[in-house]
Amino acid sequence: MKSAEIRQRFLDFFEKKSHTIVPSAPMVIKGDPTLMFTNAGMNQFKDIILGNVRPKATRVADSQKCLRVSGKHNDLEEVGHDTYHHTMFEMLGNWSFGDYFKKEAIAYAWEFLTEEMGLDKNRLYATVFEGSKEDHLEEDKEALEYWKLYLPEDRILYGNKKDNFWEMGDMGPCGPCSEIHIDLRPEAERALKPGRELVNKDNPLVIEIWNLVFMQYNRKADGSLENLPSHHVDTGMGFERLCMAVQGKTSNYDTDVFTPIIGEIARLSGKEYGKDAAADVAMRVIADHLRTIAFSITDGQLPSNVKAGYVIRRILRRAVRYAYTFLDQKDAFMYKLVPVLIEVMGQHYPELSSQRVLIERVIQEEENAFLRTLDKGIKLLDRIIEKTKAEDYLTVPGNVAFELYDTYGFPLDLTELILKENGLVVNRREFKAEMEAQKERSRSAAAVNTDDWVELIADDTQEFVGYDYTETEVQITRYRRVSTKGKTLYQLVFNITPFYGESGGQVGDRGWLISETEKISVLDTHKENGLTIHITDRLPEDLTQVFTAKVDVDKRIATENNHTSTHLLHYALRKVLGTHVEQKGSYVSDEYLRFDFSHFQKVTDEELEEVAAIVNQEIRKNYPLEESRAVPIGQAKKMGAMAIFGEKYGDLVRVVKFGESVELCGGTHAHATGQIGFFKIISESSVSAGVRRIEAITAAKAEEYILNYFKMMKEIDRMFKSNRGVLENVRELLNENEELKKDVEKFTRESLRIMKEGWKNEKRVIRDVNMIVKTVMMPPANVKDIAFQLKGELDNLVLVIGGVFNNKPHLTVMFSDSLVKDYGLHAGQIVKDAAQEIKGGGGGQPFFATAGGSNPEGVSKALERAEKLILDKIH
Ligand code: ALA
Repeated sequence: MKSAEIRQRFLDFFEKKSHTIVPSAPMVIKGDPTLMFTNAGMNQFKDIILGNVRPKATRVADSQKCLRVSGKHNDLEEVGHDTYHHTMFEMLGNWSFGDYFKKEAIAYAWEFLTEEMGLDKNRLYATVFEGSKEDHLEEDKEALEYWKLYLPEDRILYGNKKDNFWEMGDMGPCGPCSEIHIDLRPEAERALKPGRELVNKDNPLVIEIWNLVFMQYNRKADGSLENLPSHHVDTGMGFERLCMAVQGKTSNYDTDVFTPIIGEIARLSGKEYGKDAAADVAMRVIADHLRTIAFSITDGQLPSNVKAGYVIRRILRRAVRYAYTFLDQKDAFMYKLVPVLIEVMGQHYPELSSQRVLIERVIQEEENAFLRTLDKGIKLLDRIIEKTKAEDYLTVPGNVAFELYDTYGFPLDLTELILKENGLVVNRREFKAEMEAQKERSRSAAAVNTDDWVELIADDTQEFVGYDYTETEVQITRYRRVSTKGKTLYQLVFNITPFYGESGGQVGDRGWLISETEKISVLDTHKENGLTIHITDRLPEDLTQVFTAKVDVDKRIATENNHTSTHLLHYALRKVLGTHVEQKGSYVSDEYLRFDFSHFQKVTDEELEEVAAIVNQEIRKNYPLEESRAVPIGQAKKMGAMAIFGEKYGDLVRVVKFGESVELCGGTHAHATGQIGFFKIISESSVSAGVRRIEAITAAKAEEYILNYFKMMKEIDRMFKSNRGVLENVRELLNENEELKKDVEKFTRESLRIMKEGWKNEKRVIRDVNMIVKTVMMPPANVKDIAFQLKGELDNLVLVIGGVFNNKPHLTVMFSDSLVKDYGLHAGQIVKDAAQEIKGGGGGQPFFATAGGSNPEGVSKALERAEKLILDKIH
């Protein structure tokens, strides 16, 4: 069975069991402060499980792109070294939201594995939770009883909290779980040792394939557990592992999910897979990381220097350095694997082919940039090796290895490998200490203390009315305190709200919470797990009364003008540049708008003018806002809505239309484009390979910008006191300036000539030598000029000039070539010696040398000293 069929059979199976099949949510998470990447299928359902949002369907199944590279679930270090861990993997999952529980979850899993997939019943094991004293939880007898319907008791094992109690993070929904493990060892081995002894023992052939989590609790900030309002099932099966079991392989990398990719790596690098252990690790690392990076890019997360982008950059670098060290790839290489990845996964994930050029360019550029750093790092390492050896040490200090890690992206294992070849080691203790110190620095910089919610009204629904109203009567349903470094803020949830919480690039509303006696500022508004959260810096005296919640309308309208303008801009860009333009990010505030989009070269001035002209035309056409609030996604696409990959949409979406611009969007907008008034682009720049950024302003800000510009022009014009117009005046001024420059040059040349004649007159003749020793007040460049002229005009010349220019002393010594030969004079040596008097240094050739210094008082002493050295030689 091919992997694509296995995935489809899973979805079909649960569809038959009345589950709604939903698409994978993006792997990159925006708008959840506790999580950067989707690390489990249940992430997109967290708000349902917490009871904040009612589910649209109570039975759901999907295949979810997951990434486990940071936080509580992190498998990065394992990847490549074993055959069954991945950074990115697909998780097949089925969910019940308050519908079925343990009995059906176990029955479905059993039926799917043994009947649909035809796996051998005798190779399967189940684990159940043994209970935990610390959490006051009993063993999961219920799950045990249901498993006994399918498995003999000796193939059901108890597991501890680490393996059999699943938590998404430090806080949030959790519960006991039952894992299904499979023993894939050959018969002979199985006869020698029963599989039950190898469950959860890191054996690559006795592995977990499916985890059935029974969500019953919510872990609170203080570590205690509370019961969830209703019980849910959350399951996750490793797709790649299932393929390995079904296809009878012993490594995920031997399934058709990976073999084409590994094959291409082998072909491009001229190595064979399965011949050399180190090269095999490298090939697995690259095959795995390629998927992670490509899907991050399609989901809108490019490699960068901060947060999620930095995690992706580090993963890419890990792959590059494996390719560099073990596959001899000294040039960019991974980007060439994108076509084969599309071959394997493109059918189920069409975003890969639609964004192919972008993926390739970003990877190639990142590879090239890192290869340059890698090169510098390797040179630095060479110097360290030399130095350590020269000093007769064997140990390289930890901070040096840490610098290599932190600045040059050298993982410790690579540094150690290279050092070992030179008989050296790293002081690991010091390295670890540096690492800890850095972690501690970022921890304390980001430390946030979040208290538990205090419920005032048990109302789990919250209504957003901000599309229609900016003011409404509200009650506070819950609040909590959040403190960061010396600052305490409060988060408030209302039963109904006109406030727009920051999302989709649009900033959150600000405003006030008003009662008869109080007026409290709402500083910002966020969204979290489906709730709109209002931020204040104090709590009202009486929390239970009815308040008027009032949005700051001026700010809201300015923001709306900018948001609507981004839609018009998107529309205009696709018209002018082509339909390869896709939104890659945006930021919309009351001040300005920022729009990032895929495009592969600089947008020219002419193109920008055309784009701005179209946007302003659309504004003048005064299109009214046409919105449809709850449109099924299929219908929205038929309406021509531009869907943005990487954004998470529910089944019902909001469509926003202005003239021909149609987008899926949850933001708030101008009532009609005319209210924007005017649109002005203020910058165009590059964000990364293949992604450009436009910043623009609208309405009053744009007007102010233009008016200021005119004011400045007027002022410039006035300075000229002539009415020929600014352009003509400036042109004239520049011409005049050119002429003046030429004149100045001429005069400088003339005065240097006169000076030179003066120097000649001051020469002394000692034996056959023409000697000029002199202090001057001119720049060293002019001294040099005269010196070289004199050298051509006077035989047997000794010229020693000292001077001060811009408060800095300088020395110049020049000898005729004959004197260098006859007397063994060396200008470089003399200047070096004399420069001590001006606290400086310098040098040069035997016939000409200069020096600079920092002590202007020392110039005449320096001249005396140089003269004495010269005379000693001559005599
Ligand atoms: N949420 C569970 C897991 O990720 C299914 O293992």
